[in-house]
Parts: sequence; structure tokens; C-alpha cells
Amino acid sequence: MKATPVSATAPAKVILFGEHAVVYGCPAIAVPISALRAEALAFPNSSYGLGLRIAAFDSGETIPVDLTSDMKAVDNALAYTARLCLEALNAAPPDVTIRIQSQIPIASGLGSGAAVTAALARVLSFVVGQPLDNDRLNALVYEVEKLYHGTPSGIDNTVIVYEQPVYFRRGYPIETLDIVRPFTLLIGDTGEAALTRTVVEDVRRLYTSDPEQYQALFNEIASITELGRRAISTGDHNLLGKLMFQNHTILQQLTVSSAPLDSLVQAAYAAGAIGAKLSGGGRGGNMIALTEARDAERVEKALLSAGAKRVFQTVVQ
Ligand code: PMV
Repeated sequence: MKATPVSATAPAKVILFGEHAVVYGCPAIAVPISALRAEALAFPNSSYGLGLRIAAFDSGETIPVDLTSDMKAVDNALAYTARLCLEALNAAPPDVTIRIQSQIPIASGLGSGAAVTAALARVLSFVVGQPLDNDRLNALVYEVEKLYHGTPSGIDNTVIVYEQPVYFRRGYPIETLDIVRPFTLLIGDTGEAALTRTVVEDVRRLYTSDPEQYQALFNEIASITELGRRAISTGDHNLLGKLMFQNHTILQQLTVSSAPLDSLVQAAYAAGAIGAKLSGGGRGGNMIALTEARDAERVEKALLSAGAKRVFQTVVQ
């Protein structure tokens, strides 16, 4: 008899305003991209007693998970997530294989790691009969983010776990945002992978070398984010777009843009986008462009001609 798998998912995300500054306590705004998802499917093992195994989508590897090895030696993000989850729930490893699959490009600022972690912990907690609520899941995903990203602000796990647009500020209660007027976003991929951890460390070095100068840039980003929140709450797309361009300029000054990101932002502007900026850690990965729905196709073509490896269109609502 073929058993039906138990499945859980989590979405991708983009940061509309405030990346990098958010690491230094400034606010940021992020939205989930529900049409791009990571999924974890748990299947009963074909023969009894194989224990918990995780089949990774990218490497094709199947990783056994047990509770006996030293946690410090667990160097695989999936195994680490499963261990943390089982320990938090005080549960024994179930006899299942969990298959991970994801539509979210990795190392590109779309939150692929946090989404995979969230989907995996969700399905595992379900299989052991103790489904994690979002608050506990969020804390768990943050622990995994810390291991792999050094000093994450917590914005990725928050927007991905709650799957709501968020105004996020480290150490403050999470505020979800109502999108009063839906807007169209194009997500343009430079095709260049970039490690957020390295970029965040570089910004840290710059900040340490001249705290006053870099704090001033973070403060400017914070003001843009505040105005962005207002633009979302009043449905003012023109203001929203203008603020995106401004945010991109400051990200350039923080040295986290790149030639391909700048060309895509410029191409979006030239094709009539209302706003555009890099999104996430930068130096590669994705940019976002805000357009009127009727202009989306033209802007998409312009992004592809300017070198985007793929463009994903979504409506934020
Ligand atoms: O590259 P991403 O999508 O993981 O975004 C990172 C956002 C930063 O502000 C650069 C880092 C952080 O921890 O918030």
C-alpha cells in the first residue's frame, strides 16, 4: 500500500526596505512571496527501523538523523534543524524519510534557507504529533539562521514563518502590515550567488572603521523605511517606488550593490518602472521592480535584455 505523505511548506520573501540597516536596529519591511515555496514531504520508510532520514533536493544526498552524535558536529543545516526540532519537542526521531524540494533559488536574497528550515521543522513537528505554533517555529528557524548567517537580524525567519507583510525591528514586537492597494513586483535574478554572511561582515568592517558615517546611512535608510510604511498604508505607489530608488542609492553607498544589480535597476527605471532596488544581502542575488500591472511585461523584457537570468512576477496583496 502506498502511504500518502504529510507535507508542509513555507514561502520565499523579498525585503522592500531596510536590509543591512536592520542588522543595526533600524526598521525594515519585507513581504512573503507565496507563489515561490519550499516544501517538506514526510513518507513512512519502505522498511521498518530505518529511522529519520532527510533527502535533500539540491545535493541528492539522504542524511540520517539521530540524537546520539555531538550537536556541535552536525554540520548539515537540515540535520541540525531536525535535531533542534526534536530536542525542543522532547521527541524521538520518527521512522520516516522527509524529502525537501524548493522552487526558491538559493543564495539569492529570497530566503531559501529559512523557508526550507521552516518547512522541515513544520512537517517534522507534525509527524511527531506536536505541531509547532508560529512563535515557536520562528524561534527555532532563527536559531538555524544564526548558525549559518552569523548575526541575522531575524527578518527572514519572521516574514517567512508568519507569511505576512511585516514591519520588523529587532527586539520589538512583530507588526504585520495591511496592503491597502495591491502592487505588482518583478523579481529579477542576476544569476550571481552571493553569501549574505560575507556581505554583512563587510558592512560591519566599514561601520567599525567609521561608525558616524555609516550610522548616518543607516538612519537615512530608517527614514525611507518609515515613509515606505506610510506609502503602503495609504496605497501611494508613486511614493513607494521613489523610496525604493532612494533606498538603492544608499545601498550602493554601503557597497552592497554590484554592476549587474545596478544595470537591472537602471533597466527597470528606463523601461518605466515606478521603483527598483536590490533586495536582500546584495552583491548579487535578486533585485525588485515595482510597476503598474500594464507595464509589467515591458519592464520584464527590459530586465531580461539587461541580463536578468530569470524574472518572476508577483502581486503583493
Ligand atoms: O540575503 P537575505 O535575503 O538573507 O537578506 C539579508 C538581509 C540583511 O539585512 C542583509 C541581513 C539580516 O540579517 O537582516
